Amino acid sequence: MLSGKRILLIIAGGIAAYKAIELIRRLRERGAAVRCILTKAGAEFVTPLSLSAVSGDKVYGELFSLTDEAEMGHIQLSRDADLLVVVPATADILARMAAGLANDLATTALLATDKPVLVAPAMNVRMWLHPATQRNIQQLQSDGVRFVGPAEGDMACGEYGPGRMSEPAEILGAIEGFFTAGSNGLRALVTSGPTHEAIDPVRFIANRSSGKQGHAIAAAFAARGFATTLVSGPTHEPRPQGVKFVGVESARDMLAACEAALPVDVVVCAAAVADWRVAVEANQKLKKEKGKPLPVLTLAENPDILATIAGLKRGRPRLVVGFAAETERVVEHARAKLARKGCDWIVANDVSPGTGTFGGTNNTVHLISADRTEAWPQATKEQVGQRLVARIVEALA
Ligand SMILES: Cc1cc2nc3c(=O)[nH]c(=O)nc-3n(C[C@H](O)[C@H](O)[C@H](O)COP(=O)(O)O)c2cc1C
Repeated sequence: MLSGKRILLIIAGGIAAYKAIELIRRLRERGAAVRCILTKAGAEFVTPLSLSAVSGDKVYGELFSLTDEAEMGHIQLSRDADLLVVVPATADILARMAAGLANDLATTALLATDKPVLVAPAMNVRMWLHPATQRNIQQLQSDGVRFVGPAEGDMACGEYGPGRMSEPAEILGAIEGFFTAGSNGLRALVTSGPTHEAIDPVRFIANRSSGKQGHAIAAAFAARGFATTLVSGPTHEPRPQGVKFVGVESARDMLAACEAALPVDVVVCAAAVADWRVAVEANQKLKKEKGKPLPVLTLAENPDILATIAGLKRGRPRLVVGFAAETERVVEHARAKLARKGCDWIVANDVSPGTGTFGGTNNTVHLISADRTEAWPQATKEQVGQRLVARIVEALA
């Protein structure tokens, strides 16, 4: 999967630096070429010799080295890579990156690059929670730096909390995830269609969603170069081209499929997920028998997929977009839904009888965010999908 990919691995000065060795081995097993930059503090924790032995390449450390510069200029180091990975990312290197400093080879390479950067922070819990570190993280996230971890757990310093570096397997997963992103480097997840909530093996509760709008959004994402996963309930819609399709039945299946598709940059929850399911699904078909009381269907609440994804503490998509299908006071109800679910945008559509929205080819929507409401003119569902994705591309830029 990583065959031919070139990783510039920057190892900074933290206890977790030893995990870089394991990461390099795993990256190379998968066919990646790894070149290392070791900070001065990093060299207190792992030796250039070990890194060189596992990476099969020279290890770079000095900015002002005549030999290194003659062999491989400091700019060339980052130019040659497909991805820069900082493992472990110390509080110090994150601060220098956030400030745009270039006072050693590692930070010079990080500043001189237009390539994507992934960092795996590792530090004491108080260093991680310090407002200065949190400020730097926010800055780096808005600069487009990707994060993996940190995890919560016991630390080398004897404390417990967030700040522990992710394990090499998880960092590897994030690196592989990065290379499976679309041609624009971004990943999208779309839910579509209704869900079917079984009553017994032959009957189910469903709704009138056709999946047309969700499928059109997935097609628009794929057309704009996103690696797109479409998780859909049962529909008659053709599968859009260039999209990874996951067919599901129930709300619980849909949530599991969405969680498996994460991490993504953006999620659009356009499916009409059933709010309730039958509390106990009958194993056998319920029989109609003369003289017997009618069956009573007790309902149980389904998981809330939009709120679950919007509320993720780690790995929340950068943009979480929900749909609100309303039959009255559309904007007011959609605004309340935006606040309730904790998502970033809501696309509100009027599905009251007579609008023809459910199953129809057209849609009239409002795009609602915390600070504005836009009324879009009636358009085909394809056009709504394309316009929505164009807005998402702007927002993620
Ligand atoms: C034993 C020891 C362990 C350290 N572990 C960490 C750590 O896990 N994370 C961190 O941010 N800093 C840690 N530090 C502090 C950094 O090494 C120090 O801030 C250094 O300047 C980082 O430089 P660099 O970011 O250029 O590698 C540690 C220091 C010592 C002495």
